Amino acid sequence: MSLDSFLLTVEDVTLNFGGTAALSNVGFQVRQGEIRAIIGPNGAGKTSMLNCISGFYRPQYGQICYKGQDLTKVASHKIASLGIARTFQNIALYTGLSILDNLMAARHIHMKQNSAASMLYWGPAQREEIAHRAIVEEIIDFLEIAHIRKAIVGALPYGLRKRVELGRALALEPKLLLLDEPMAGMNVEEKEDMARFILDIHERRGVTVVLIEHDMGLVMDISDRVVVLDFGVKIGDGTPDDIKNDKKVIQAYLGQA
Ligand SMILES: Nc1ncnc2c1ncn2[C@@H]1O[C@H](COP(=O)(O)OP(=O)(O)O)[C@@H](O)[C@H]1O
Ligand SMILES: [Mg+2]
Repeated sequence: MSLDSFLLTVEDVTLNFGGTAALSNVGFQVRQGEIRAIIGPNGAGKTSMLNCISGFYRPQYGQICYKGQDLTKVASHKIASLGIARTFQNIALYTGLSILDNLMAARHIHMKQNSAASMLYWGPAQREEIAHRAIVEEIIDFLEIAHIRKAIVGALPYGLRKRVELGRALALEPKLLLLDEPMAGMNVEEKEDMARFILDIHERRGVTVVLIEHDMGLVMDISDRVVVLDFGVKIGDGTPDDIKNDKKVIQAYLGQA
């Protein structure tokens, strides 16, 4: 495997909060086009890892290489424009706005915009608005929420809000999608829908996915390779079959799951 087939290379990442070591010298690679899961018990450092990749946290040590750039040195607001989008463990949406407006807002916040030009109704700004709208409508169709696109997000049931959050991330047209427990708290049917969307995003849109998830059946089904964290340390890394049979992983995590 040549180095340039890796979209993301995490090397030696160390993140401390006071006396707590959230991540200790963690390293792994994400291949272009794969679904890469991160699993492990609560407090293992999974969310912290995503926060380091998305620039929300700065590790004290280590590198995160993405397309030749060290993300630990890139301003967090620039990271989205490099093609990296994420969802949050606790849903973060504008609850007073509609689905459509949440997705449009994502494009306006993260994409190039010129507020002076956008005051002129005709011209490039309006063409840009139409283009944004077409992309957002396509995502809404894809996620099968066209019939409720004008609904206020705060009034939606939890499973649908998680789906809208995925839509918001997709509105950035990411190359790399970071999903923090996208199926947590869902019923079986909602989980299966979400798994289908993630697989479609991956297969049809060619998006590389890093997925944190606790449902081991689903993780082992849909991911190509799995990283296992425990107390901030990587204790396993391999295909789902490798991981299922790894004694250290079974002892630390799978045995109790
Ligand atoms: N902002 C923070 N301030 C202090 N401690 C934190 C912060 N974020 C995470 N931690 C700590 O880092 C460790 C890993 O947390 P987290 O990455 O959320 O784990 P996971 O997502 O695997 O459950 C935990 O001990 C947690 O308390
Ligand atoms: Mg977490």
